[in-house]
This record gives sequence, structure tokens and C-alpha cells, in this order.
Amino acid sequence: MIRGHQMSRFDEEIDRFGTHSVKWDMMEAIYGVPASDGLSMWVADMDFRPPECVQKAVQGMADHGIYGYFGDDRAYLESICWWMQTRHGWKVDPKWIFSTHGLVNGTGMCVDAFTNPGDGVVLFTPVYHAFARVIKAAGREVVECPLAVRDGRYEMDFDAYDALMTGNERLLILCSPHNPGGRVWTRAELKGVAAFAKRHDLILVSDEIHHDLVMPGHKHIPMPLIDGDVSERLVMMTATTKTFNIAGSHIGNVIIPDDDLRARFAARMAGLGISPNSFGLIMATAAYSPDGAAWVDDLVQYLDGNRRLFDEAVNAIPGLKSMPMEATYLAWVDFEGTGMTREEFTHRVEKDAHIAANHGPTFGCGGESYLRFNFATPRARVADAAERLQRAFGDLQ
Ligand SMILES: Cc1ncc(COP(=O)(O)O)c(C=O)c1O
Repeated sequence: MIRGHQMSRFDEEIDRFGTHSVKWDMMEAIYGVPASDGLSMWVADMDFRPPECVQKAVQGMADHGIYGYFGDDRAYLESICWWMQTRHGWKVDPKWIFSTHGLVNGTGMCVDAFTNPGDGVVLFTPVYHAFARVIKAAGREVVECPLAVRDGRYEMDFDAYDALMTGNERLLILCSPHNPGGRVWTRAELKGVAAFAKRHDLILVSDEIHHDLVMPGHKHIPMPLIDGDVSERLVMMTATTKTFNIAGSHIGNVIIPDDDLRARFAARMAGLGISPNSFGLIMATAAYSPDGAAWVDDLVQYLDGNRRLFDEAVNAIPGLKSMPMEATYLAWVDFEGTGMTREEFTHRVEKDAHIAANHGPTFGCGGESYLRFNFATPRARVADAAERLQRAFGDLQ
């Protein structure tokens, strides 16, 4: 075992092959990394079981054995309000909340509800790849505002972004905390985003799905708590799925304080005939609880240990640089310093180290020399990944 490491529930290595896990069962087909000894570090779910309270809720449904339509969402809505208030200091009115089939679905519905074909949707890139995919598929234009790398981490450059605006933009999607750069945006930065949205009359969608996975020493600030006068243009997106590792339940919260925006979103929901998935609602209600909160506190400590182990090992390899991570379990590693082409460093990671990691360019401009590694896996596997990378790039030592 790793020196100084105290055993944790998250150390259990659970075989996910043959369970329809996209992360493990599609690794060989997508990345050519052999299932026999490959390490899957791409898609953003964790190799951990959710807390006991969630397992019990699903077990209760299975024991009852009836899977009819869901009704009476009061406990579900209350649990969301409780979580946002106690964990994030944000008071939510239950009537602001929509339940979508996850936040990619929520993003698609925001694009549909608040923009027209041909309109521009602004992203600070590199950023979570599904945003651009959804925007393009809906016939809207992706407007990339490149994040600047300063002191080794991402920052926004609003003067440059002002110059990029044409007047055709209607919507801005912010990822807060940021995937893949791991930034927890400061109050000043969030105020800058709010002012930018106002200046260009953009509806602001704040995707805060990673808000519970914040490393010790950092504090996430929900967008509504910014003194930026954005409430009439703000759409909040949060979920239990990243936090509790229940992404297959496909459930997300789209929370809209403004009456007019809410009516437009509600019309889109009704038009698509979207109604809740009872598994997702029951799991989310169980998760947003004191037991769930205690589990998340343990999880974050564990992830922080994985982060330190991974970053230290990767940063010791000449030419590799892991961006300092303030949140998420996704390490954004820059290979530029190796002097290798993208094909060569990717080949070494996939074909020599047998690790599947997300390719940087899928996240938009600025991602070309990066790979994204998901380290939400038992620590022994993180140590194994670090050793494999050290061997694959051993000639640079
Ligand atoms: C910023 C962000 N939004 C949304 C999602 C996915 O949301 P969902 O599974 O609810 O569709 C992810 C997954 O990695 C993400 O990083």
C-alpha cells in the first residue's frame, strides 16, 4: 500500500467491466487501450459506490418491485433547497426548480428555449465538450472566448472577449467550478462574468455541477450570491450526479429565479413532454441529506489525496505540467514542454502506459497540448497510473 495511507472505503477496487460502463467497457473501442491491463481515466464518473443512503433508497425501490409513474415531488424539492442552503448558503424557492434528464439535457433545453437558430452561444474555452456539441447540433453558433493561462492557471480576459462580440450572441454558458481547468472562480472573476453578460445582454447559464467537489482551502461561490445584478438573466444548473457518482440516473436541477425566463423554460419542457425518472428522483432525494453530506466530506478528502499523489508524480516528469486543481477530480495535464507532437505524447499515454485520457482538443481551442485524467478511482490505481506515466516518459528524466 502507499506509504502513510490509511485505508478508506474508497480504496475498494470494483470491477466495472461488463456492466455497460462507458468509461471501462468502451475504453478499448474508443482509445485502443487494451481492456486486459488498461487504466480508464477519461469520462467523468467515479469508480466508487455512492453513499449507503443512496444504495438503500434504490434497494427499497427494488424490494417493493413496482416501477410506476412518479408523483409528489415535495420531499425531492425540499432536499434540493436544503442542500443549496446548508452546503452553499443559497436560498432556493422550490418553485424555481425544474428536473431535467441531466445537465447536458438541461443545456440543450436552455439553448432551445432562449436562442434561435443561427444565434451565437458564448463559451470560455477550453471547456466541457458537450456544450459545443449541443450548441452546434441545435444549429447555433459556438463563440469561443479563449481563457488565458496566467501563472499556470486559467483566467478570463474580458477586454479581449468584448472585442469578439458581434451583437449576434444571446447566451453565455459558464462552467463554475471549471472543467477541465479545475478553477474555482473568485468573487471578482464571477462579478466580471456577470458584468460581461449584462454588457452584451446575454442570458447567463451557470453550470455548477462540480460545486461540491472543491479542494480544501478553496470556496465555491454560487452565481446568485454575486452582487452582480444578474438574477433576471440567470439560469443555474446543479446536480447530484457528479457529487454522488450517480450519473447513470440522468437527473439534473435547472433552477431559474426569474419569472419570465422560467415561463420560457417551462414551455420548452412541456413541448418536449419531459417528465421525471423516478430512480433519479429517489436517489437524489436520498443523497441530499446529512448522511450524504458526511460522505461527500470524506470523498473530498480522499480526492485531495489522489490529486496530490497524481500531481506530484506528473509534475516530476520533465515537460509535463498538471494545472493546479482547486476543484473537480479531473487533472488537466499539459504536454507542451515535452516538445512532442500531439500524436506522439498521446501514443505514449495510450499505447505505452495503457491509459485512456480525454484528448485536449475536444474541449475547444487552447486544449491542443493537453490530456485530461480522471483520478476518481482507488488510490492504488492512481499510483499505478503515475508509475506508468513515469515509465512511458522515462527518457525525459
Ligand atoms: C460541466 C459539466 N456539465 C455537465 C456534465 C454532465 O451532466 P449530465 O450527466 O447531468 O448530463 C458534466 C460531466 O462531466 C460536466 O463536467
